[in-house]
Amino acid sequence: MHSRSPQFAPLFLLLLICAVGASWSPPLCKANEYDEAMAPQQGDVCQEPPSNGSYIPAPGVTDSDADNILVALNLEYLESEFFLFGATGAGLDRFAPELAAGGPAPIGAQKANLDNLTRDIIEQFGYQEVGHLRAIKETIPEAFPRVQLDLRKEVFAATMEAALGKLPEPFDAYANSQNYLLASYLIPYVGLTGYVGANPQLQSERAKRLVAGLLAVESGQDAVIRTLLYEQRNEQVVQGMTVADVTEKISQLRNKLGKTGIVDEGLVVPQCLGAEGRTSGNSLAGDANSVGYARTPAQIFRIVYGTGNESMPGGFYPEGGRGRVAESFL
Ligand SMILES: *[C@@H]1O[C@H](CO)[C@@H](O)[C@H](O)[C@H]1NC(C)=O
Ligand SMILES: *[C@@H]1O[C@H](CO)[C@@H](O)[C@H](O)[C@H]1NC(C)=O
Ligand SMILES: *[C@@H]1O[C@H](CO)[C@@H](O)[C@H](O)[C@H]1NC(C)=O
Repeated sequence: MHSRSPQFAPLFLLLLICAVGASWSPPLCKANEYDEAMAPQQGDVCQEPPSNGSYIPAPGVTDSDADNILVALNLEYLESEFFLFGATGAGLDRFAPELAAGGPAPIGAQKANLDNLTRDIIEQFGYQEVGHLRAIKETIPEAFPRVQLDLRKEVFAATMEAALGKLPEPFDAYANSQNYLLASYLIPYVGLTGYVGANPQLQSERAKRLVAGLLAVESGQDAVIRTLLYEQRNEQVVQGMTVADVTEKISQLRNKLGKTGIVDEGLVVPQCLGAEGRTSGNSLAGDANSVGYARTPAQIFRIVYGTGNESMPGGFYPEGGRGRVAESFL
């Protein structure tokens, strides 16, 4: 299923240089301990106040803006728990219990069997999501606590079966890096399209600033996931189906559940869907002008519930989403 992929090339090169070059400083040569060795020394830079480029969370968005942003909070809880657990085996209850705010623990989240590079990146994503939760909750203090999430591998397996048809063995999202990345392909992109869709509805400057900042990082996560998978696009996941095929099938499922037509695209597409109709490689999804696609809240919930119906909870959200918009559908 999983095989070592070219993403390791820079690491191996570095190890090689370290092995040959006796004059290299020790921190560089400890790069196989991926997390700490690469970090610069802690210094005054960490003590400085936030730069003018930072978003400083504070209350002050309209009720309508709050409603729109809280749609996304449902997804941010999902991402934070999935990434934190996948990388570390623990979630918000360990890293930021105040953000869980007494909401129920996720069902079935677990540590994934990841290679070092993937684990390192997913751990970063997990902490990024903690920041997103904090930014949202400090902007909207009345935000709801953690929602009930179902992250059991069976839920991912059911989604994969809906996308791919019956598999010889149920898909295990946590079994290896490739599976985990495919499961991750299910997630930030949906949030991203929701942020694009929410943006034109926003009224306050603060809400626009927050959503642009969240969109930027969600898009970045999606791009990293897609790039890692793109490197593996021709590898076989199951008999007769490559990584590229699987992403295309997942995207088709999301288009179907959302009832949107094409707003989701796999890693390799018919050339007419590639950028400028000139390429079938599709490392990033975008419309005819390579501008990000938008989804409405109803479309988002249809997908993440896995039911194609925003009034029928299921999938990752057995009790449905929270917030005025999600609850208005239930
Ligand atoms: C992965 O990380 C562990 C622990 O930091 C280390 O012992 C191991 O050598 C690393 N593996 C690779 C392939 O870099
Ligand atoms: C922020 O902007 C103000 C003026 O607009 C400037 O005086 C200040 O130095 C800036 N602060 C930082 C941390 O860049
Ligand atoms: C969606 O689910 C609700 C509640 O179960 C149901 O009343 C409604 O008919 C469903 N809509 C569609 C389009 O299936």
